[in-house]
Amino acid sequence: MTMMTCSFWAVALVALVALAPVAIRADCPGTPNLRPIYSSDPVLVKSIENASLYHVGTGENGTTLRVLHLYGSPYAMGYAQGQLLADDIKTMVAAFFEYLDDTIAPYINWLPQDVQKIILEDGPAAALQFEVDLTMPYISQYFLDEIRGLADGCNCGIDYKTVLQVHLFPELIKASCSMFGAWGPAIANVSGTVNQLRALDWGLDNPLVNYSLVAVYHPEEGLGHPFASVTFNGFIGSITSYGGLVGMSEKVWLSYNESASRAGVPFHFLMRDAAQFDRTIDDTLNRIYNSKRTCSVHLGVGSSLDKQFRAVEYSHEEVLVYDDKNYPSYLPAHPLFDGLVFINKHVQPSSDTCMGSLMTKYYGSLDAETTIRNVLGNTASGDMHAAFYDYGNNVIHVSVAGLPVANDGNGTVIDGPMAPAHARPWFRLDMEKLFAQTQAQ
Ligand SMILES: *[C@@H]1O[C@H](CO)[C@@H](O)[C@H](O)[C@H]1NC(C)=O
Ligand SMILES: *[C@@H]1O[C@H](CO)[C@@H](O)[C@H](O)[C@H]1NC(C)=O
Ligand SMILES: *[C@@H]1O[C@H](CO)[C@@H](O)[C@H](O)[C@H]1NC(C)=O
Ligand SMILES: *[C@@H]1O[C@H](CO)[C@@H](O)[C@H](O)[C@H]1NC(C)=O
Ligand SMILES: *[C@@H]1O[C@H](CO)[C@@H](O)[C@H](O)[C@H]1NC(C)=O
Ligand SMILES: *[C@@H]1O[C@H](CO)[C@@H](O)[C@H](O)[C@H]1NC(C)=O
Repeated sequence: MTMMTCSFWAVALVALVALAPVAIRADCPGTPNLRPIYSSDPVLVKSIENASLYHVGTGENGTTLRVLHLYGSPYAMGYAQGQLLADDIKTMVAAFFEYLDDTIAPYINWLPQDVQKIILEDGPAAALQFEVDLTMPYISQYFLDEIRGLADGCNCGIDYKTVLQVHLFPELIKASCSMFGAWGPAIANVSGTVNQLRALDWGLDNPLVNYSLVAVYHPEEGLGHPFASVTFNGFIGSITSYGGLVGMSEKVWLSYNESASRAGVPFHFLMRDAAQFDRTIDDTLNRIYNSKRTCSVHLGVGSSLDKQFRAVEYSHEEVLVYDDKNYPSYLPAHPLFDGLVFINKHVQPSSDTCMGSLMTKYYGSLDAETTIRNVLGNTASGDMHAAFYDYGNNVIHVSVAGLPVANDGNGTVIDGPMAPAHARPWFRLDMEKLFAQTQAQ
């Protein structure tokens, strides 16, 4: 199992600051991704009460993206997903526990002492149950209702307690990823929007890799607004969330070594709440300040109304908020730019120059296509999934890991049973349409 590594960047509308040019070095691990970006409308595959499953893409070599629309009360949405995807949920949960048992050993040193002890004595499921007990008082009832619905709807021998345990996995094993937020002078369109990247590196040996989907929630009256989560069947938290107004990126914060608390809100539930309920960056920062936080992660918060992005160092004890002016800059790895905040996939502060050199090279044109082709392709970040939020157009681009595509010179060479998301075809989703979509008959 790989620790999750993630990157993010944000671009902002501010006056351009003159910067010493940074040499572009050919020290990136990947090559540009020139594979197709599918933009056709999702095609209905199956519909039951409260849920409809769609596919986007040609299906060739597994290049299909699943889009699941959910409607109604939290329990009804959970129940419908459980029922519609019962077979996939059943195989995912079984593969997940097998994987934890087989692979947790080398990673155990990263975990808090109390959790290590439980794993050694009673196994990983017991450690997850320990996390469940500590976080349960802080989990909103609507999440628990949805989880109960999922177990009931699946009706596949996986009980509520087991589904809950699966949901504490991100608290135990965090991802190392990349992100950015880019606005104003950092993107092609200075007239007012923000673009945001979220690349999830969680390892292609993680069984979740075979169960990706985009869930589009249409909550009942009083429970926020429609939002999307790039997630896995049977997993209702969100580590990649977009609500049209606010969207979130995430990355493990490994260099933080002060106290963590296991008791509090799992961060993926907080990330989902931000997309579902928040309207501005301040809403999400207030949510972060006022929540009982657990472990340390970097979060990326983008907002269409603010047309800005903030990187947040989030931990049990403190919250540090960074914009394009105060993000720690050091050359050559991390230049500072007006309207751009980025974090590469390595432990921060990172001396790796790949992402910084790409930000320098493509500064001013950090749109979806440039990011997909030239940024992520080259950084080779986003193995499990990656998403690009274009708030101005209310469009997201998504890629998920899957079966290998041909090594045709159009992307990073793939030499395993699975191809990483950053090297595969991408999918363009018109969220304006998807958020407005009513339940299929
Ligand atoms: C979905 O679930 C709710 C219960 O929350 C129910 O009232 C509604 O009729 C269901 N069906 C659809 C299509 O939303
Ligand atoms: C994902 O599915 C493929 C094809 O069935 C399989 O070869 C691979 O081992 C699976 N990956 C994981 C991590 O289970
Ligand atoms: C935190 O880091 C400091 C400096 O690197 C080290 O001395 C200390 O032992 C670390 N604390 C923990 C709890 O790992
Ligand atoms: C520029 O931004 C505006 C406002 O967000 C949007 O309507 C327009 O489509 C954008 N243009 C491009 C080329 O993305
Ligand atoms: C699918 O895989 C086959 C065999 O590797 C290859 O010839 C073909 O070009 C691939 N198609 C796409 C769309 O990647
Ligand atoms: C690379 O992609 C382009 C455009 O999608 C396609 O025309 C071309 O055939 C691909 N190259 C190879 C070697 O398949």
